[in-house]
Amino acid sequence: MTDPQIVLTERVQQALAHAFGSEHADADPLIRPSQFADFQANVALSLAKRLRRAPREVAEAIKAELSDFPGTVEVSGPGFLNITLDDSWIASEAHRMLADPRLGVGTIAPAQTVVIDYSAPNAAKEMHVGHLRTTIVGDSLARLHEHLGNTVIRQNHLGDWGTPFGMLIEHLLDIGEETAVAQLEAGMGTEFYQAARSKFDGDEEFKHRARVRVTTLQGGDPATMRLWHVFMDATVRYFNKVYELLGVTLTDADLAGESMYNAMLEKTCGDLETSGAAVMSEGALCVFPPGFSGSDDKPLPLIIRKSDGGYGYATTDMAAIRYRVHDLKADRILYVVGSEQALHFRMVFAAARLAGWLPETVSAEHVQIGMMLGKDGRRFKTRSGESVKLMDLLQEAIDRATAAIGDRGYDETTRNEIAHAVGMGAVKYADLSVSHDSEYVLDFDRMLAFTGNTGPYMQYATARIRSIFRKAGIELSAAKGTILLGEPAERALALHLLGFGALVEQVTTQSEPHRLCNFLFETASLLSVFYEQCPVLRQDVPPETRASRLALCALTTAVLETGLDLLGVPVPERM
Ligand code: ARG
Repeated sequence: MTDPQIVLTERVQQALAHAFGSEHADADPLIRPSQFADFQANVALSLAKRLRRAPREVAEAIKAELSDFPGTVEVSGPGFLNITLDDSWIASEAHRMLADPRLGVGTIAPAQTVVIDYSAPNAAKEMHVGHLRTTIVGDSLARLHEHLGNTVIRQNHLGDWGTPFGMLIEHLLDIGEETAVAQLEAGMGTEFYQAARSKFDGDEEFKHRARVRVTTLQGGDPATMRLWHVFMDATVRYFNKVYELLGVTLTDADLAGESMYNAMLEKTCGDLETSGAAVMSEGALCVFPPGFSGSDDKPLPLIIRKSDGGYGYATTDMAAIRYRVHDLKADRILYVVGSEQALHFRMVFAAARLAGWLPETVSAEHVQIGMMLGKDGRRFKTRSGESVKLMDLLQEAIDRATAAIGDRGYDETTRNEIAHAVGMGAVKYADLSVSHDSEYVLDFDRMLAFTGNTGPYMQYATARIRSIFRKAGIELSAAKGTILLGEPAERALALHLLGFGALVEQVTTQSEPHRLCNFLFETASLLSVFYEQCPVLRQDVPPETRASRLALCALTTAVLETGLDLLGVPVPERM
């Protein structure tokens, strides 16, 4: 492990054990980056209290144990330890990291099976912007877990079932299969739904047909099932177009929509009732998980079967959680879903625990996704107040990227490729760079800016390094020179890069891709200072300095490109 903060933590803990006894070996040395040195450890102050000794004296005792440490330690103020690492240590660790294909990122042992429920658009409606973030954040989490060696099972919990399908199928028959398929594939799900809805509301004969159709659908009538498949297949083809444009890793193999659980719902309810976890209340079958009450202080029910005998969203989720634990053998289940569903998931998890379907060894977590807002601070909508089509939004990002890039003398294919990477990278990075549970303002100008914590800025940083290598006429992989840290900018960059592995591990276990964005932003910022102060290819740069700087550039771009890949942000060769 190369991360200086972790190396230091271990070393200071050893020192604590030596100086004060092994009972202090696990104390947190409280090591933080510092403006006076590389790091500061504040442990002497808290330990002094417990030992009833003077803090400075405790600090001196720790310092004495760190005599063979690859750096300098100073006691300052009331008893802080200021720690500065030796340049040679940083340089050799950086060199080792460059030779390591994993760049210091470990693997989880034993590997976990992580089920990630994400994207999950509803087929009866157009996939809208709300699903963009769950798709992007979920996909990044899937990439991160896979990178750490976990077994990832993606579950796209499509909304592909329910009473609206009666009217949707009747409308499909009215306009003809071919027309319907063409509309759905083109992403006109909302228009399709609205047309069906207005007939349902205004036409008694249609309403009657739709109701009958719901019954034949639920009864599994083959002709009706075929029509449902026609509808769903066309809809999924549209979702897949969006996924492809975004470069999202979901495939048809990951589809696990609500309909998949149909056959399990009766047993789900039956088992919950037999075990006593669910009880009848006002004609409905309900679970009352402990700790949930409504505004009237009455226990809050999770309704498993409505009084009319129908199943709902909660029923499916109860069946799904049992399936994920029991059949998929999940160690961890992540639900990447809008934060407005927080109560639903807390209740589902509690109900599953109550039923014994979610053992303590398995964690179920709602990775809450904050709402996307327009520039006016309200829910993101078009000017006429409708929700925005995802495809239109993505196309706008690509068009704006095309305009932002300009001509640059590339042929059309290259230009289109760059525009696509920049446009999609901007959208994805913007979604990822704020913590997933906070609201987020969609602002094209800001996300497409070439400065600041944006996708294009990160992409530009890597493209700039790649262009240095093209100019120098050497392959990135050939830059293996010894790293020498003469300039402060080189040292700061190298020291920062060493933290990559530990950061990726933390970000993954804590489901916090935005912290990876922060790390990459800091990397790109340190890189630009390095550029200003440390010429690489200039004539007067001595060969060994040049080789060292090329090696540092290669390490930086490896970190940036790996990090962007883990976020799912594409990296164009040039910009
Ligand atoms: N389709 C749902 C929606 O759009 C999200 C499904 C999330 N997953 C789940 N297991 N409930 O709100």
